Amino acid sequence: MARRLLRGRVLSFVSEPQGLDDTDSYRYWDDGEVEIEDGKIVSVGPFDGTQHADTEIIDHRGKLILPGLIDPHIHFPQMQVIGSYAANLLEWLNTYTFVEEQRFAEEAHATRIASRFFDEMIRHGTTTAAAYCSVHPQSVDAFFGEAAKRDMLMVGGKVMMDRNAPEALRDTPQSGYDDSKALIGKWHGKGRAHYAITPRFAITSTPEQMEMAEALAREFPDLHIQTHVDENLDEIVFAKELFPNLPDYLGIYERYHLLGPKTLLGHCIHMTHREVEILAETRSVAVWCPTSNLFIGSGLFDHDRLHAHGVRMGVATDVGGGSSYSMLRTLDEGYKVLQLRGQRLNPLRSFYMMTLGNARAMSLDDRIGAVEAGKDADLVVLDARATPQMALRMEAVGSLANELFLLQTCGDDRAVVETYVAGKPMKSALAG
Ligand code: GUN
Ligand code: ZN
Repeated sequence: MARRLLRGRVLSFVSEPQGLDDTDSYRYWDDGEVEIEDGKIVSVGPFDGTQHADTEIIDHRGKLILPGLIDPHIHFPQMQVIGSYAANLLEWLNTYTFVEEQRFAEEAHATRIASRFFDEMIRHGTTTAAAYCSVHPQSVDAFFGEAAKRDMLMVGGKVMMDRNAPEALRDTPQSGYDDSKALIGKWHGKGRAHYAITPRFAITSTPEQMEMAEALAREFPDLHIQTHVDENLDEIVFAKELFPNLPDYLGIYERYHLLGPKTLLGHCIHMTHREVEILAETRSVAVWCPTSNLFIGSGLFDHDRLHAHGVRMGVATDVGGGSSYSMLRTLDEGYKVLQLRGQRLNPLRSFYMMTLGNARAMSLDDRIGAVEAGKDADLVVLDARATPQMALRMEAVGSLANELFLLQTCGDDRAVVETYVAGKPMKSALAG
């Protein structure tokens, strides 16, 4: 395959920014180039105009070229749930989500929605996500099948749920185990697919099912595990009733040995001191979902508390509890959550979090999250002048950090000029 060279303003983090003036935390080339071959980045640096004769040059001058954005918590069967009116999490789940997810028993529906899902990922500049599928194995086939067509690096799994949900959405401890195992064999490691063991949350799994999730985790220790914890106060009371004699909600996952460096725990809002310590000790990842937490009214994530305890963190959309596919919109809401808490989230840290930070949170930073030679060529091109009002505002923006902050505050999919997946321009190829 011929080489491709992207020319533009290249920005990539190398470490977690310690403050707005931490210029050591990133590399930036104002007139830079990213050379791509066979889906990989082969070189990055200042544009020098000495490329091979057969290299295709794509001119993104003036625009920012970053690693593709990463979303470590999203529900692909909830595309038609976004914006559902409910008082709280459990009402939202029972009234809308558990009804909608039943439609994924039908393969044609699952395939149609999966196709639309990846279109939205690409439209919003997200190149990798960790997704919950529905309880139906065919939803996982649709998910990874459509991801493979686009060569996208995706993490996903069938939710295991055997109680407190409609009959049509329940598996059993044995079938949840068998189906998950078959799906692991079918998909994990095929192309860019990574299977995640996915007990939905403690409320929808019996102790017997948790034991089966534990058995899977023991058999497949390299896999991701994804679940929810401490999102809503009523949810916490209910979970503790279902698993008595354990110290707290996180203690349920601890009891079944489901915590560890590849465990992604959605929400982590209402946490006891012990839970925070267990998160840190096990190197499990707290995944912050600001648009969802605001929309459902679940609570305000305590970023600084977890950070001070050394807890690993990611930040995600949680569509369809979350209200936007955009990681820019997500970090904008995250910023506001922390403002309300009296905490600061500077724009360097925001952009670190949606790229290298989330890659690290997902233990995928050997492949993605940075614009570096040897990494997969998953990239996003952003334009801080994407709309008339942003262009006007940009006239008064004098620094890279302020440009990033404007992108976060006012940007959405319109600011995504192009999304490259394994070196291929994908957004411009979308229909409509
Ligand atoms: N807890 C268990 N399932 C879900 C879900 O689908 N969305 C959210 N936000 N929380 C959950
Ligand atoms: Zn979720």
